[in-house]
Amino acid sequence: MKCRKCGGRGVINLRQHKLILCKEHYLEWLPEQVQRAIDRYHMFTPQERVLVAVSGGKDSLSLWDILTRLGYHTDGLYIGLGIEGEVHYSDESLRLTEQFAGAHGLHLNTIKVAEEYGLAVPEIAQQTYHGQTKPCSVCGRIKRHIMNRAARDGGYDVLATGHNLDDEAAVLFGNTLNWSAGYLMRQGPVLEADIPGVVRKVKPLCRIYEREMAAYALLRGIEYIYDECPFAVGATSIYYKELLNQLEADHPGAKLNFYLSFLQAKKGGLFTGAADQARQSLHPCPTCGQPTSVEGECAFCRMMGKVKKLTKS
Ligand code: AMP
Ligand code: FES
Ligand code: ZN
Ligand code: ZN
Repeated sequence: MKCRKCGGRGVINLRQHKLILCKEHYLEWLPEQVQRAIDRYHMFTPQERVLVAVSGGKDSLSLWDILTRLGYHTDGLYIGLGIEGEVHYSDESLRLTEQFAGAHGLHLNTIKVAEEYGLAVPEIAQQTYHGQTKPCSVCGRIKRHIMNRAARDGGYDVLATGHNLDDEAAVLFGNTLNWSAGYLMRQGPVLEADIPGVVRKVKPLCRIYEREMAAYALLRGIEYIYDECPFAVGATSIYYKELLNQLEADHPGAKLNFYLSFLQAKKGGLFTGAADQARQSLHPCPTCGQPTSVEGECAFCRMMGKVKKLTKS
């Protein structure tokens, strides 16, 4: 296996691109791909301030690394969810994130859910839904709310997350199986700040395969948390990822094609009607000012209202 660029020892075979690269050229190639996605989807400019949501995993830490290497102005945001598990998931991911920020002289904002709202994520899920709901959906809602608020209050132009192609393809697959038009039309590399109170969200890694991100983190020597969140076990998204991996093994490039064809179809107007309808039904939550489609307070504020009552009594 020889590097296409220098003939040196190849360390990775990018089958879908019919490309073999050595360590040095791979570590150059990947940031170039990310830069292309940033440009192609008009994610942000070198003048804008980017808040990178970092979980301590390989994708978001590598994203922070790549954006820094590309010369962007970035700060990090870590949200302490208070998830325990065997390895003290949250403590360990915070430690690794702080270690990365420290080593690179980067600024990290940390927001701990339990300190701010009185209860950690698993307890909020347990108490407000009496254990009926998996913590993951409550967790997702809390993360989205905090990410947007932190970016807005910190005066950042854009919030970047580490979602990779496998993440995006799995979500797309799930949404397609259900033909969830509402979710489908909001899925994409960029979620524009077209509603008051909302900051632009971008996914610079949306065209990069998960295994490419793992290889990058490994070759760059980035220490990250290997374990998945303990609540993710048995999640349908993991099942969808496995299915798509089977497809990819037989048809290299299938995952990328699935995602890119979707973006093309969307651009062609596949969801235009649904998009307009959904946008019209959004209005700012009277309590927090973030957009919601439900009458009155948003789902986050209603949930936190319950938490407030619980922690008072
Ligand atoms: P996940 O939903 O866990 O697959 O994570 C997707 C992306 O959300 C990650 O790549 C991060 O950018 C962001 N993220 C997830 N968890 C956290 C966290 N605890 N703090 C900050 N960002 C996070
Ligand atoms: Fe939120 Fe697992 S990361 S429930
Ligand atoms: Zn080379
Ligand atoms: Zn609200």
